[in-house]
Amino acid sequence: MFTLAHLSDWHLASRPRLVELAGKRGLGLINWHRKRKYVHRPEILDLTIRDLRAGAPDHVAVTGDLVNLSLPDEFNRARGWLQTLGAPHDVTLVPGNHDVYVRSVQQLPAKYWADYMCGDDGKDGFPFLRRRGNIALIGLSSAVPTAPLLATGRLGKTQLSRLLDVLEQTRGLFRIVLIHHPLLTPPKRRLRRLTDAADLRGVLADKGAELLLHGHDHSRAVVWLDGPKAKIPAVGVPSASAQAPHGDENAAGYNLFRIDGDAGNWRCEMIGRERDADGSYRDAERRVLF
Ligand SMILES: [Fe+2]
Repeated sequence: MFTLAHLSDWHLASRPRLVELAGKRGLGLINWHRKRKYVHRPEILDLTIRDLRAGAPDHVAVTGDLVNLSLPDEFNRARGWLQTLGAPHDVTLVPGNHDVYVRSVQQLPAKYWADYMCGDDGKDGFPFLRRRGNIALIGLSSAVPTAPLLATGRLGKTQLSRLLDVLEQTRGLFRIVLIHHPLLTPPKRRLRRLTDAADLRGVLADKGAELLLHGHDHSRAVVWLDGPKAKIPAVGVPSASAQAPHGDENAAGYNLFRIDGDAGNWRCEMIGRERDADGSYRDAERRVLF
């Protein structure tokens, strides 16, 4: 039995210096003060992580948007929370759009988080592959800087073609694909979509995977994607720092996956943990995926 915990979208902010507020960051700061600073709270993330650690998972997956405006101080603080979750060997991270909020900071995720965001070969770049027993963790980056008011993501042809090879090479293992953006987006969230999601769905339909985990929407979701033999569950998780439900978004939570079996005979149970109005954490959902 292998237990994987999945959390995402902390969106924790630091106070910017005036010089850092040009363009998109200025708009982002206004948005933060109008809405998000009341939603995403560091003390809530601490409580979520405390509940998660009590379950003693074998490994933790984090799917991006750890920071809010991509300020160096935010990256540094986020690294502290990553260390609270565990050592780089036991925690696998992929970046989100807020982690490359503006073009000038594209190198910061690698600068601060490289050891959490690399394969077993230690090389930078995506996709990366980590193998833990019969589990393959495959990290993708959909994080690209975008214009103000956009939160789209993109993988690009090179990453997609490498993913084909990695999925082929890991056939027979329990393959878990980690990506920040979801693969299906309703029309009202068009400006927040993964622009080459159809290409990624094509790769998965061709090569298969056992599980895909994403963040970005801050809500609990399970959709089933086409695979070559069986459908592939794509599971979204709430933000780990959300003080309370907010619009379509859930209160803070994370998911646990209990994985057992072997090729052709996998079993996977999902347990969604969520912060309740009284501040305690409870099982919001429990289901056998297969
Ligand atoms: Fe996001």
